[in-house]
Amino acid sequence: MKRNSAKFLIAVFACILLFSGCINIQNEEETTTPIGDVGNANPSAIGSYKTMEYTYQTNVDISCLTTHLDPTYLILANKTNALSEDYVPASLTTLTCETTYSMKLESRAAQALYAMLAEMKAAGVSDISVTSAYRSYEKQSETYNLWVQQEMSGGFSQDAYRVLGQAYIKMNYLDKEINRLSLADAHKVAQSYSAQPGQSEHQTGLCVDFITSGMNGELTEAFEYTEAFAWLTENAYKFGFILRYPRDKQDITGYTYEPWHYRFVGREAATDIYVGEMTLEQYLQLVNQEQ
Ligand code: DAL
Ligand code: ZN
Repeated sequence: MKRNSAKFLIAVFACILLFSGCINIQNEEETTTPIGDVGNANPSAIGSYKTMEYTYQTNVDISCLTTHLDPTYLILANKTNALSEDYVPASLTTLTCETTYSMKLESRAAQALYAMLAEMKAAGVSDISVTSAYRSYEKQSETYNLWVQQEMSGGFSQDAYRVLGQAYIKMNYLDKEINRLSLADAHKVAQSYSAQPGQSEHQTGLCVDFITSGMNGELTEAFEYTEAFAWLTENAYKFGFILRYPRDKQDITGYTYEPWHYRFVGREAATDIYVGEMTLEQYLQLVNQEQ
């Protein structure tokens, strides 16, 4: 497909999403971490996939990795583009790779994931499993509310200090001998790392959270020090996956660093995003700007 027609398709799809029932622009007053201007990304990275030479050790089925920039795989779910309550990916399949419980993923993303895990294994990295994949709107609602409850359960988490600040906690809680966050503050803290229902990329069925045996079942930045992370950093784009919430990009993504969360966008977009060190928000804006 020619580059201009691919860009045109993405732009058309973005417009359809914005004006269709698939995406509701939700009341931004509920959002405590606004998504800032996504500018400053390097436009020259767009189209990098055309000159990239991809090499694989295993017998990879390229057809599941290359999407030809199919808009299906470029859906944006974030704090300003929320999915509707009834949005469910068209094709979901139960994952057959190592997972911590039974879970589903969009079918093509699942094929790409299997190819990536096979390649990882061939490179000697086998300590990795998937701990979260597709989450329905209702499931995300449960997940988000659990985090809010956790923040209100007494004491103040590192995230509470990071989001609210030491001075605020001292003045509003410790000096008043109050030992638990208010509901409003708990929401603010939870929203820095957990998506409200409709705003989670997990509802697209296009992303996974990875975990390793040494992480004691908890998703923490410790994943950054694993062999799996080192391998993914160098190779995930070749399989169409991107690190969705990079360090120091919270102003753009709305969420803190998540070294474990990988999003399938197809090999073309993933390569451009990798080369340009961009977020998905920046990539989509650049592609739209170039129309
Ligand atoms: N942790 C990511 C942002 C989510 O809840 O979807
Ligand atoms: Zn995730």
